[in-house]
Amino acid sequence: MKVTPFTLERFFSQTEFDVRYNLATSAIQAWSLRELLSLANDPDLQFSLFATRLGYTEPQGNLELRQEISRLYPAPTDPDLVFVTIGAIEANYLLLSSLLEPGDRFIVQTPCYQQLSQVGVDLGAIALPWNYSDDKGFDIQEFEALLEQKPRLVMLNTPHNPTGFAFSPTEMKKIADLCLEQEIYLLSDEVYRELGETLSPSMRDYSSQAVSVGSMSKAYGLAGLRVGWMVAPPAILARCTLKRDYTTLCCPSIGQQLALTALRHRTKIWDRNRQLRLRNITLLEEALMEAPTLRWKKPEAGVVAWVDYTSETLSEQLGWELHNRGVLVAPGIFFGQEGHFRLGFGGNSGELKAGLAILVDYFKKG
Ligand SMILES: Cc1ncc(COP(=O)(O)O)c(C=O)c1O
Repeated sequence: MKVTPFTLERFFSQTEFDVRYNLATSAIQAWSLRELLSLANDPDLQFSLFATRLGYTEPQGNLELRQEISRLYPAPTDPDLVFVTIGAIEANYLLLSSLLEPGDRFIVQTPCYQQLSQVGVDLGAIALPWNYSDDKGFDIQEFEALLEQKPRLVMLNTPHNPTGFAFSPTEMKKIADLCLEQEIYLLSDEVYRELGETLSPSMRDYSSQAVSVGSMSKAYGLAGLRVGWMVAPPAILARCTLKRDYTTLCCPSIGQQLALTALRHRTKIWDRNRQLRLRNITLLEEALMEAPTLRWKKPEAGVVAWVDYTSETLSEQLGWELHNRGVLVAPGIFFGQEGHFRLGFGGNSGELKAGLAILVDYFKKG
């Protein structure tokens, strides 16, 4: 299979770890292991973690972890429908590469996290872009028009990276009903679901045939655990399992144990992360008011904002120019759209403020 470079990841590999102010990240600030354990406030926890066997684990994931994940979905969700993966990225990869065949058509939002379109395209499938517009977001009428091209699969991401758009419950039901009626696979990457003012709905609320993909990375601030999951009907799980046996086999045992701890204390984690998000969004609003050439919409959930910068400079060049000034943003072209950049505001508030000051100064000087 052809492999097209994942442009955003290639750019990050050259920039992310040496930049002073990282305003490109798409996750909430990471927790340290110490912070996570002290949040649990359980003196025996360290000892039970020390007892974790560092061998292979069940391919589908630790049962207790799957039970905890199933509680994020409409009750009763059978833990056997949960499949633990190495981040959401593995879940998306297994799904797209197992369900799409060369020549198939699939609907995908544009702009998007490149993986969601590229895996299918590299397999020889044909992407049908569902375009974002500032006034309508992702318009359901356009979706209905795309369905006339008889796609095999719909790949959604809600709440959405990079625009911060989230479908309403009515829109989600409509999409789910249409996919059920027309027997189209419906995949929904929901990695930001827990990082809005409340828990956003899942496509699994509207269809037992839909697949939800989740993760400990973005909304929990635990990307280093490399734990994600899919919740899917048994036939889809079976196909992904076949493919998985040739790649990663299972998730690291220690990552799963820590993910279990985090999920058992999820409301405390959500509270801290939501407070940080709100504090930072205010900083972002205040800073961007000083730069009238920058246009953006307050994201409905998640910690990324999609900024339109109205200038001739190509977004990759802009990314490097800002990087030279010590600030990292994610160029829009890496999501399939020029004239924009993605700004991640989930990090440390002091660093965000300092990075924003440099960014605003750059745009004021034109
Ligand atoms: C929409 C989306 N899905 C999946 C991923 C991968 O996340 P994970 O760390 O869970 O593999 C990302 C990471 O940026 C993302 O933005």
